[in-house]
Amino acid sequence: AKGAAMVTAVAYRLTEQARQIQQTLAEFRLSKSQLLEVKKRMRVEIERGLKKETHHEATVKMLPTFVRSTPDGSENGDFLALDLGGTNFRVLLVRIRSGKRRTVEMHNKIYAIPTEVMQGTGEELFDHIVHCISDFLDYMGMKSARLPLGFTFSFPCLQTSLDAGTLVTWTKGFKATDCEGEDVVELLREAIKRKEEFELDVVAIVNDTVGTMMTCAYEEPNCEVGLIAGTGSNACYMEELKNIEIVPGTEGRMCVNMEWGAFGDNGCLDDIRTVYDQAVDENSLNEGKQRYEKMCSGMYLGEIVRQILIDLTKRGFLFRGQISETLKTRGIFETKFLSQIESDRLALLQVRAILQQLGLDSTCDDSIIVKEVCGTVSRRAAQICGAGMAAVVDKIRENRGLDHLEVTVGVDGTLYKLHPHFSRIFQKTVKDLAPKCDVTFLLSEDGSGKGAALITAVGCRQRQLDAQ
Ligand code: GLC
Repeated sequence: AKGAAMVTAVAYRLTEQARQIQQTLAEFRLSKSQLLEVKKRMRVEIERGLKKETHHEATVKMLPTFVRSTPDGSENGDFLALDLGGTNFRVLLVRIRSGKRRTVEMHNKIYAIPTEVMQGTGEELFDHIVHCISDFLDYMGMKSARLPLGFTFSFPCLQTSLDAGTLVTWTKGFKATDCEGEDVVELLREAIKRKEEFELDVVAIVNDTVGTMMTCAYEEPNCEVGLIAGTGSNACYMEELKNIEIVPGTEGRMCVNMEWGAFGDNGCLDDIRTVYDQAVDENSLNEGKQRYEKMCSGMYLGEIVRQILIDLTKRGFLFRGQISETLKTRGIFETKFLSQIESDRLALLQVRAILQQLGLDSTCDDSIIVKEVCGTVSRRAAQICGAGMAAVVDKIRENRGLDHLEVTVGVDGTLYKLHPHFSRIFQKTVKDLAPKCDVTFLLSEDGSGKGAALITAVGCRQRQLDAQ
């Protein structure tokens, strides 16, 4: 009888433990009405960003890009492109040929940006960038060419023209000094001058979302939205110029870089943010900022998971109650690990092997729990990201006075491309929350580089027209 009582006690403790874990995860499981609420609030913030009276205090900045149309196939020439702000820093040579057989040929090289440089002085950062360009030009044997350059700079920039943009604030892992409030194109031009080795003509500064939209639009003219679900999270779309009140003019459209990562910075998402989201924010380089991005992008999903695992361990539900040094390390769960852990083809034993690689000793039960935590966090990410996108496509539909809209969204980003479930859940959410829109998603191939070159081509053509 004593044995039976013990078994019952153990069983009780286990079910109680399971109940408490489920209770913790329940906060991440959003209902359809909560998601509709997220969509509605995104729409409110979009309007605040677009309107002149509220723009200065708006969190979703809705930044004008001075890109007025998608490519028409007549783009032509050789361009240099830089891609800064994603997982890698790259320099590219892009050769675009127009005519009957349109072709785009690309050469690129990836360069590391050490953390000390990302978080050092602005001068060091831009000198490093120019050093990489110099290396690339040597490598391609093109130092004397004075090529037009498109700079994909994936941070919020307040643009006043295609080739001028003031950095509003750093986001993601960057924090170099003396850049915020400065024109990034000028910083680049000055660094090129300091080097005294080559000349370049900086024609355009481009957000990665815009580059992605343009790249996809080159193949599919219906593409009028760009999405990045990667290290960071953001979207852009073609808005009616008359609605972008901080830019003069009423005719036609302009692409707006939404900077939706900052959605929630005024507290409007506080009711769905958990204590784990708050902990991630407090541990970040930019506390209080980019709250939506911190709930749905690759740089932070692993951090949310880590915060939950720490808490569950503290409560004795995981890792035998022992918080290891590894678990205390920021950034251990990169997108690629989360993607592996959540892969359906993986047996639990393999999940344990991955955790082992990370330095986490797990039991079989532990690995089941870890997998469920990862799944819950990434599902919420895909859903709230989908709710944001639903707001965007419905806004476009309403702009055009349509009952039904067909539109293509160009997409890029490691989370979207690598994660086994993110894209599917994201797409389903958009469909559920914006039923009047028929949305096609197109993966971009090398969106940032190609897109920057396409925009530079348009910019060069415009300059020639202006000069006539
Ligand atoms: C961050 C940046 C934004 C970029 C996004 C995706 O949210 O602020 O400009 O588009 O990351 O890289």
